[in-house]
Amino acid sequence: STPENWRRTDEFLSEMLVGHDPQLEGALAAQRAAGLPAIEVAPVVGKLLHLIVTISGARRVLEIGTLGGYSTIWLARAVGADGAVVSIEAEPGNAAVARANLDAAGVGDRVAIRIGRGAEVLPTLEGGPAFDLVFIDADKESNTIYLDWAARLGHPGTVVIVDNIGREGEIVREDSDDPRVTGTRDGLRMLGEDPRFEATALQTVGAKGWDGVAIAVVR
Ligand code: DHB
Ligand code: MG
Repeated sequence: STPENWRRTDEFLSEMLVGHDPQLEGALAAQRAAGLPAIEVAPVVGKLLHLIVTISGARRVLEIGTLGGYSTIWLARAVGADGAVVSIEAEPGNAAVARANLDAAGVGDRVAIRIGRGAEVLPTLEGGPAFDLVFIDADKESNTIYLDWAARLGHPGTVVIVDNIGREGEIVREDSDDPRVTGTRDGLRMLGEDPRFEATALQTVGAKGWDGVAIAVVR
Protein backbone atom coordinates (compact mmCIF):
# COMPACT_ATOMS: atom_id res chain seq x y z
CA SER A 1 0.00 0.00 0.00
CA THR A 2 1.47 3.30 -1.14
CA PRO A 3 0.13 6.81 -1.76
CA GLU A 4 0.42 6.07 -5.50
CA ASN A 5 -1.79 3.03 -5.00
CA TRP A 6 -4.31 5.08 -3.02
CA ARG A 7 -4.44 7.66 -5.81
CA ARG A 8 -4.94 5.08 -8.54
CA THR A 9 -7.63 3.29 -6.56
CA ASP A 10 -9.34 6.63 -5.87
CA GLU A 11 -9.31 7.36 -9.62
CA PHE A 12 -10.76 3.92 -10.28
CA LEU A 13 -13.56 4.47 -7.77
CA SER A 14 -14.25 7.92 -9.22
CA GLU A 15 -14.49 6.48 -12.72
CA MET A 16 -16.78 3.66 -11.57
CA LEU A 17 -19.04 5.61 -9.24
CA VAL A 18 -18.84 9.32 -10.04
CA GLY A 19 -18.12 9.35 -13.75
CA HIS A 20 -17.47 12.14 -16.18
CA ASP A 21 -19.08 15.41 -15.17
CA PRO A 22 -18.35 18.41 -17.43
CA GLN A 23 -19.66 20.98 -14.93
CA LEU A 24 -17.55 19.73 -12.04
CA GLU A 25 -14.52 19.26 -14.27
CA GLY A 26 -15.04 22.75 -15.67
CA ALA A 27 -15.14 24.15 -12.14
CA LEU A 28 -11.87 22.41 -11.30
CA ALA A 29 -10.22 23.64 -14.49
CA ALA A 30 -11.34 27.20 -13.72
CA GLN A 31 -10.04 27.12 -10.16
CA ARG A 32 -6.72 25.62 -11.26
CA ALA A 33 -6.42 28.34 -13.96
CA ALA A 34 -7.12 30.97 -11.30
CA GLY A 35 -4.25 29.60 -9.22
CA LEU A 36 -6.32 28.27 -6.31
CA PRO A 37 -4.66 25.46 -4.32
CA ALA A 38 -5.75 21.92 -5.25
CA ILE A 39 -7.21 21.22 -1.81
CA GLU A 40 -10.89 20.75 -2.73
CA VAL A 41 -12.55 17.50 -1.69
CA ALA A 42 -11.91 14.46 -3.91
CA PRO A 43 -14.73 13.47 -6.28
CA VAL A 44 -15.74 10.48 -4.14
CA VAL A 45 -16.00 12.78 -1.11
CA GLY A 46 -17.98 15.36 -3.10
CA LYS A 47 -20.40 12.60 -3.94
CA LEU A 48 -20.45 11.49 -0.31
CA LEU A 49 -21.57 15.02 0.64
CA HIS A 50 -24.26 14.84 -2.04
CA LEU A 51 -25.47 11.47 -0.76
CA ILE A 52 -25.57 12.57 2.88
CA VAL A 53 -27.67 15.61 1.91
CA THR A 54 -30.00 13.31 -0.01
CA ILE A 55 -30.20 10.66 2.72
CA SER A 56 -30.83 13.24 5.45
CA GLY A 57 -33.30 15.24 3.36
CA ALA A 58 -31.42 18.46 4.15
CA ARG A 59 -32.84 21.53 2.39
CA ARG A 60 -30.74 24.26 3.99
CA VAL A 61 -27.00 23.68 3.97
CA LEU A 62 -24.22 25.77 5.49
CA GLU A 63 -20.68 25.40 4.17
CA ILE A 64 -17.70 26.99 5.91
CA GLY A 65 -14.86 27.27 3.37
CA THR A 66 -16.04 27.72 -0.23
CA LEU A 67 -12.64 27.75 -1.99
CA GLY A 68 -13.58 27.60 -5.72
CA GLY A 69 -17.02 26.12 -5.16
CA TYR A 70 -16.33 22.48 -6.07
CA SER A 71 -17.92 20.99 -2.93
CA THR A 72 -20.51 23.78 -3.07
CA ILE A 73 -21.72 22.53 -6.46
CA TRP A 74 -22.16 19.03 -5.01
CA LEU A 75 -24.11 20.40 -2.04
CA ALA A 76 -26.21 22.77 -4.16
CA ARG A 77 -27.22 20.05 -6.58
CA ALA A 78 -28.26 17.84 -3.68
CA VAL A 79 -30.55 20.37 -1.97
CA GLY A 80 -32.53 20.72 -5.19
CA ALA A 81 -34.10 23.76 -6.83
CA ASP A 82 -36.07 24.66 -3.68
CA GLY A 83 -33.10 24.26 -1.37
CA ALA A 84 -30.47 26.76 -0.32
CA VAL A 85 -26.76 26.76 0.43
CA VAL A 86 -24.97 29.48 2.35
CA SER A 87 -21.21 29.21 1.86
CA ILE A 88 -18.67 31.30 3.77
CA GLU A 89 -15.35 32.23 2.17
CA ALA A 90 -12.64 34.45 3.64
CA GLU A 91 -10.83 35.18 0.35
CA PRO A 92 -12.76 37.47 -2.04
CA GLY A 93 -10.75 36.12 -5.01
CA ASN A 94 -11.79 32.56 -4.19
CA ALA A 95 -15.40 33.70 -3.80
CA ALA A 96 -15.33 35.27 -7.28
CA VAL A 97 -14.07 32.02 -8.81
CA ALA A 98 -16.72 30.08 -6.88
CA ARG A 99 -19.51 32.43 -8.01
CA ALA A 100 -18.57 31.94 -11.66
CA ASN A 101 -18.32 28.16 -11.18
CA LEU A 102 -21.70 27.93 -9.45
CA ASP A 103 -23.40 30.02 -12.12
CA ALA A 104 -21.78 27.95 -14.89
CA ALA A 105 -22.99 24.77 -13.17
CA GLY A 106 -26.55 26.11 -13.15
CA VAL A 107 -26.93 26.22 -9.36
CA GLY A 108 -25.90 29.81 -8.68
CA ASP A 109 -29.45 30.90 -7.82
CA ARG A 110 -29.60 28.61 -4.79
CA VAL A 111 -26.21 29.55 -3.30
CA ALA A 112 -25.36 32.65 -1.27
CA ILE A 113 -21.64 33.20 -0.82
CA ARG A 114 -20.83 35.27 2.25
CA ILE A 115 -17.38 36.82 2.13
CA GLY A 116 -15.52 37.08 5.43
CA ARG A 117 -13.93 35.07 8.21
CA GLY A 118 -16.23 32.41 9.60
CA ALA A 119 -16.04 33.89 13.07
CA GLU A 120 -17.37 37.19 11.71
CA VAL A 121 -19.98 35.92 9.27
CA LEU A 122 -21.49 33.13 11.39
CA PRO A 123 -23.04 35.42 14.06
CA THR A 124 -24.88 37.30 11.29
CA LEU A 125 -26.75 34.10 10.41
CA GLU A 126 -28.30 33.89 13.88
CA GLY A 127 -32.04 34.47 13.84
CA GLY A 128 -32.39 33.15 10.29
CA PRO A 129 -33.85 29.75 9.41
CA ALA A 130 -31.90 26.84 10.90
CA PHE A 131 -29.51 24.76 8.83
CA ASP A 132 -30.12 21.05 8.28
CA LEU A 133 -26.52 20.22 7.38
CA VAL A 134 -23.21 21.98 8.03
CA PHE A 135 -19.98 21.19 6.18
CA ILE A 136 -16.85 22.52 7.91
CA ASP A 137 -13.82 22.75 5.60
CA ALA A 138 -12.01 26.00 6.36
CA ASP A 139 -9.11 27.07 8.61
CA LYS A 140 -8.61 24.09 10.89
CA GLU A 141 -7.52 26.23 13.85
CA SER A 142 -11.12 27.52 14.10
CA ASN A 143 -12.88 24.14 14.10
CA THR A 144 -14.22 24.44 17.66
CA ILE A 145 -15.69 27.87 16.83
CA TYR A 146 -17.31 26.41 13.73
CA LEU A 147 -18.68 23.41 15.60
CA ASP A 148 -20.18 25.70 18.23
CA TRP A 149 -21.93 27.70 15.50
CA ALA A 150 -23.04 24.52 13.75
CA ALA A 151 -24.88 23.50 16.92
CA ARG A 152 -26.29 27.00 17.44
CA LEU A 153 -27.45 27.44 13.85
CA GLY A 154 -28.71 23.88 13.56
CA HIS A 155 -31.51 21.92 15.21
CA PRO A 156 -31.85 18.42 16.66
CA GLY A 157 -31.02 16.20 13.71
CA THR A 158 -28.74 18.62 11.90
CA VAL A 159 -25.86 16.75 10.25
CA VAL A 160 -22.34 18.11 10.76
CA ILE A 161 -19.43 17.00 8.58
CA VAL A 162 -15.83 18.06 9.24
CA ASP A 163 -13.18 17.60 6.53
CA ASN A 164 -9.50 16.85 7.12
CA ILE A 165 -9.70 15.24 10.54
CA GLY A 166 -6.79 12.88 10.08
CA ARG A 167 -4.25 14.62 7.94
CA GLU A 168 -1.38 12.13 7.65
CA GLY A 169 -1.97 10.93 11.21
CA GLU A 170 -0.74 14.23 12.62
CA ILE A 171 -3.61 14.43 15.10
CA VAL A 172 -1.99 11.87 17.41
CA ARG A 173 1.25 13.87 17.67
CA GLU A 174 0.80 15.26 21.16
CA ASP A 175 3.82 17.53 20.80
CA SER A 176 2.61 19.19 17.59
CA ASP A 177 2.55 22.97 17.79
CA ASP A 178 0.91 23.29 14.35
CA PRO A 179 -2.35 25.16 15.07
CA ARG A 180 -4.06 23.22 12.27
CA VAL A 181 -3.27 19.98 14.11
CA THR A 182 -4.25 21.23 17.55
CA GLY A 183 -7.38 22.87 16.09
CA THR A 184 -8.41 19.65 14.41
CA ARG A 185 -7.77 17.67 17.59
CA ASP A 186 -9.68 20.18 19.73
CA GLY A 187 -12.59 19.85 17.31
CA LEU A 188 -12.59 16.07 17.61
CA ARG A 189 -12.43 16.32 21.40
CA MET A 190 -15.41 18.68 21.30
CA LEU A 191 -17.37 16.27 19.10
CA GLY A 192 -16.72 13.55 21.68
CA GLU A 193 -17.35 15.56 24.84
CA ASP A 194 -19.90 18.23 23.99
CA PRO A 195 -23.38 16.86 24.76
CA ARG A 196 -24.79 18.71 21.77
CA PHE A 197 -23.16 16.20 19.37
CA GLU A 198 -23.17 12.49 18.61
CA ALA A 199 -20.21 11.83 16.32
CA THR A 200 -17.83 9.44 14.69
CA ALA A 201 -14.96 9.77 12.22
CA LEU A 202 -13.47 7.75 9.39
CA GLN A 203 -9.91 7.80 8.15
CA THR A 204 -9.54 7.88 4.39
CA VAL A 205 -6.77 7.28 1.89
CA GLY A 206 -6.99 8.46 -1.69
CA ALA A 207 -6.00 11.13 -4.17
CA LYS A 208 -5.40 13.60 -1.33
CA GLY A 209 -3.27 11.23 0.74
CA TRP A 210 -4.17 9.99 4.21
CA ASP A 211 -6.91 12.05 5.83
CA GLY A 212 -10.48 11.63 7.07
CA VAL A 213 -13.93 13.03 7.77
CA ALA A 214 -15.91 13.36 10.98
CA ILE A 215 -19.69 12.98 10.81
CA ALA A 216 -21.97 14.12 13.61
CA VAL A 217 -25.59 14.79 14.39
CA VAL A 218 -26.84 17.59 16.63
CA ARG A 219 -28.85 16.13 19.49
C1 DHB B 1 -5.85 21.93 3.29
C2 DHB B 1 -7.16 22.28 3.55
C3 DHB B 1 -8.17 21.42 3.22
O1 DHB B 1 -9.47 21.71 3.48
C4 DHB B 1 -7.91 20.19 2.62
O2 DHB B 1 -8.96 19.39 2.32
C5 DHB B 1 -6.61 19.84 2.36
C6 DHB B 1 -5.58 20.70 2.70
C7 DHB B 1 -4.75 22.84 3.66
O3 DHB B 1 -5.04 23.95 4.13
O4 DHB B 1 -3.60 22.49 3.46
MG1 MG C 1 -10.74 20.09 3.18
